[in-house]
Amino acid sequence: MQDLENGSKTWSGRFSEPVAELVQKFTASVGFDKRLARYDVEGSLAHAQMLHSVGILNQEDLEAIRSGMKVILEEIESGKFEWSVELEDVHLNIEKRLTALVGDAGKRLHTARSRNDQVATDIRLFLRQEIDGILVSIRILQKALLDLAWENADTVMPGFTHLQVAQPVSFGHHLMAYFEMLERDHSRMSDCRARMNRLPLGAAALAGTSYPIDREMVARLLGFDGVCENSLDAVSDRDFAIEFCSAASLVMTHLSRFSEEIILWMNPGFGFIDLADRFCTGSSIMPQKKNPDVPELVRGKTGRVTGHLMALLTLMKSQPLAYNKDNQEDKEPLFDAVDTVATSLRVYAEMIPGIRVNREAMRRAVGRGYATATDLADYLVKRGMPFRDAHETVARAVRFCDGKNCDLSDLSIKELQSFSELVSEDVREFLTLEGSLMSRNHVGGTAPDAVRAAISRARKNLG
Ligand code: ARG
Repeated sequence: MQDLENGSKTWSGRFSEPVAELVQKFTASVGFDKRLARYDVEGSLAHAQMLHSVGILNQEDLEAIRSGMKVILEEIESGKFEWSVELEDVHLNIEKRLTALVGDAGKRLHTARSRNDQVATDIRLFLRQEIDGILVSIRILQKALLDLAWENADTVMPGFTHLQVAQPVSFGHHLMAYFEMLERDHSRMSDCRARMNRLPLGAAALAGTSYPIDREMVARLLGFDGVCENSLDAVSDRDFAIEFCSAASLVMTHLSRFSEEIILWMNPGFGFIDLADRFCTGSSIMPQKKNPDVPELVRGKTGRVTGHLMALLTLMKSQPLAYNKDNQEDKEPLFDAVDTVATSLRVYAEMIPGIRVNREAMRRAVGRGYATATDLADYLVKRGMPFRDAHETVARAVRFCDGKNCDLSDLSIKELQSFSELVSEDVREFLTLEGSLMSRNHVGGTAPDAVRAAISRARKNLG
C-alpha cells in the first residue's frame, strides 16, 4: 500500500485518503496511452521552448528538461522505462520521471498547461503521423491496381448486376472502380488531416491561461497550421477522431467489397482468379482446400472499424463542455481503427500483384449469360426500332436461346431475322464480346482504349 499513499499522486494534496486500488486500476489509462509517449515528449519540448522564449522558464531549466526528455525517450525505446499504473497516464508517468531525473525543472514544465490540452495535442500529433502513413499505403495499393488493370484492359469478364450476368466489362475497368474508391479515400483522409492540424495547447484546463504564452510559436514548432480558436472546444473536441474513423470505415468498406469479390472469384464455380499461395491457407482436414483467408479477414475486420466509429460517436453525444474523463475512452477505438486500416491496406497492396487471372474462365462465364443482349437491342434501335420494342424483341430471342441452350451469338442470321427484319449480316460484330466492349468508348466506359486512357490519366495524376 506504500505506493498508494497520498504523496505519490500529483494531485493528492486535496485528498484525505488514498484512491481505492480498484478505482486506480479503473481510471488509469497508461496501459494504452503510453503509445502516445513520443508525441507527449514532442509536445512538452515545444511547450518548454515557448515558456523559455516568453521568459517563464530560464535557460538552465529548459536545458535540464531537454536532457531529461532525451533520457526518457531512450528508456522508452529500449523498454527500460518503468510505467506505473499509480501514475495514471502517459503524461504523469513522463512528468514524474522527468522530475526524478532533473528536479524542479521537471515540476515547472506543467506551467500554463493542463493534461486536458496536453492529451488533445498528443492525439492530434499521433493521428497526423498515422494518417501520413495511411496516405502512402493508399497510393501504393492504387499503383498495384493500376498495374494489374493495365495488363487486363482487354480481359473480358461478366459485369454483374444483382450478381447476375449483365454486360461484358473489361477486368481492368472493374479494377479501376476500386482505384476510384481509393482516390476518394485518399482525399477524405487528407481532408481529415487538414481540419485536425490545429494546436489545442494553450487552452490549458478549459479557459486558457493567465501566463503570457505564445501559442503560434508552439503551433509552428509542432507543424500545426494554426491554433484552435476556442479553449473550451480545443480540450473537448474529438471530431477529428470521429472523422478519421468515418474515413477509415469507408476504406474498410471498400476493401471489404473487394474482398467479397476476390473470395467469389476464387471459388471454383467462378475460377476467375487465383491468389498467390503465400496469401492463402490450407485446411487441417480437407487436403484440397486453398482458402482466401486474407480477404476474408479484411472483410471481417471491417466490422471493428465501423464499430469504433459508432463507439466514438456515442462517446461524444452527451458530453457537456468541456473536458470529461469520458474522453479517455477515445484512445482504444482510435488506436485499433488506425492499426486495422493501416495493416489491411498494406496486406492488400502486397496481395494484388500476386493475383493470377484466368481469362478463359472469365470468358466462359460471360458467354453463358446473354451478356450482349443489350447490344442487340441497341443495334435494333440504331436501325429505327423504338427501344422498348427492341427490348421486347431481344427478350424473345433470349427465350428462344434458353430453349436451344445456346448464346445469342450462336444464332444464325436467319434465326435472328425471324425476330426482326432489321437484322442484317453486320449484327455479328455487335454480338461479340469484343464488339460490345469496344462500343463503350467514352470517358468512364469499359472499352479497352477508354480503360487504358483512364489508367494513363491516373498514373499522371499520381506522379
Ligand atoms: N488520461 C487522460 C485522457 O486520456 C488525460 C487527461 C486527464 N485529465 C484530467 N483532468 N483527468 O483523457
